[in-house]
Amino acid sequence: MNQQLSRRTFLLGAATGLVITLAGCGSTARTPGDPVASGDVQFEASSAGAVDFRNPLVIPPLAPATVHGNQRSFTLVAQTGVSHFLPGQSTSTWGYNGALLGPTLRAHRGEEVIVNFRNDLDETTSVHWHGMHLPAAMDGGPHQSVGPGQTWQPYWTIAQPAATLWYHPHPHGATEQQVYQGLAGLFLIDDTISDGLALPNRYGVDDILVIVQDKVFNRAGELRLGERAETGLLGETILVNGTYAPYFTVTTTQVRLRILNGSTARIYHFGFSDERAFDLIATDGGLLAAPHRTTRIQLSPGERAEIVVAMAPNTVTTLRSFAPDLGTVLELVNAYGGQDRFDILQLRAAAQLQAAPDVPMTLAPLASLDARAATRTRTFRLDGRQINDQRMDMRRIDAVVTVGSTEIWDVFNQNLYPHNFHIHDVQFQILDIDASAPPPELAGWKDTVYLRPRTHYRLIMRFADYTTADLPYMYHCHLLWHEDNGMMGQFVVVEPGTAQTGELATHSCQDRHVCRTDAAPMQH
Ligand code: C2O
Ligand code: CU
Ligand code: CU
Repeated sequence: MNQQLSRRTFLLGAATGLVITLAGCGSTARTPGDPVASGDVQFEASSAGAVDFRNPLVIPPLAPATVHGNQRSFTLVAQTGVSHFLPGQSTSTWGYNGALLGPTLRAHRGEEVIVNFRNDLDETTSVHWHGMHLPAAMDGGPHQSVGPGQTWQPYWTIAQPAATLWYHPHPHGATEQQVYQGLAGLFLIDDTISDGLALPNRYGVDDILVIVQDKVFNRAGELRLGERAETGLLGETILVNGTYAPYFTVTTTQVRLRILNGSTARIYHFGFSDERAFDLIATDGGLLAAPHRTTRIQLSPGERAEIVVAMAPNTVTTLRSFAPDLGTVLELVNAYGGQDRFDILQLRAAAQLQAAPDVPMTLAPLASLDARAATRTRTFRLDGRQINDQRMDMRRIDAVVTVGSTEIWDVFNQNLYPHNFHIHDVQFQILDIDASAPPPELAGWKDTVYLRPRTHYRLIMRFADYTTADLPYMYHCHLLWHEDNGMMGQFVVVEPGTAQTGELATHSCQDRHVCRTDAAPMQH
């Protein structure tokens, strides 16, 4: 064993208290897609400069919708299938309406959405609308589980700004495995403001999804979810929209990338191989007030960013992930992928490009939530697999929020390794980070935020509507292995003066009154 590996062994041992067997592995030598031996933990994984970009990027189809007046209905079926990522190998995967990932749902603010969901898997799942403001019964969290062969029909009215949201399973304790197996899709919201902006908006032409996920394949070509770092799986093969070694042919002078970190644990620090600047135009919950010109955007699992990149004819650039800034102590960085670099997606501009207007100077009005309006501050301390010293209990309510109120949530990562924090139901703003104003990329609407170790993030949010005293929303670490291991809590939004006992009966789709929609809207 060389010195590097011994050092890594020591660090992992010190950091996790776990015994991990290291098989020999070089820092950069492995051919992307090579099978990884069991027990193998990589040291400074990198494919930067090594990917051959042989495959055209797959663009998930837009989901067909049935539209009647203001109602837009979609059908989603969770199912198993077979995908082909690596040459000569097939891989068992899961998807919605297909073998992998899911179609892109798209709806306009003000529309009523109905989703006819069926679970054709042989295990329980759920479908959560990440970033969506909607009633708790429609949220698709662990309380809306859908058993094998069962159906679920959530419906709600889109009541939030244009944004890039996503959907994924959220069953109690099995989210990591189901997302890793392939269940995830995008949900795009448009509104009158986004309709009126001269931004690239032709789906699959100049408006491109970039779902970034890391995987580990075993020798048989199957997805492996085995040894994990303290934060979860750190795979070394990167897929974009399920495409290995992808390129996209750009045909316009401006291209919009809607990037989702759909990985279970890995944190990416995106930029371009030639260090070109790009415009960040939107974060999790929608458009920024104005574009932010930058060369890097970091995303932890669950976070999204929309960027616009300018291209000249006949040029090539590569979207890459540089070493992420995890904010942890230097000795521990390697153990959490803090020095890993990857090629993500090659952009190849055609010889003739259709001219597109420059990114508008102003995007969307972004009213800052006022700290003086907050009626309550709560603290959330993430430590190990617990929040405020407790693991998730589906029968326990951790916070009771009065509808109409504005609250400040002070969130703190007690550990030296990464966590992040996601809140259902609302989009929040970051008031400050250790008492300093957030940087421009964290100044817009967010539903998930990276938590640097030992740092206070004060989040502000308003709970405008949708009350149910006995059906909670979740908040949790979006490192999915942490989430599955209990790093999650529950809150209810109640009418003023409503008593909430802190205890719930367990709900599931076997209880038809929660998951079935007796009061479902009339369908034509
Ligand atoms: Cu992306 Cu509670 O979820
Ligand atoms: Cu965590
Ligand atoms: Cu019930």
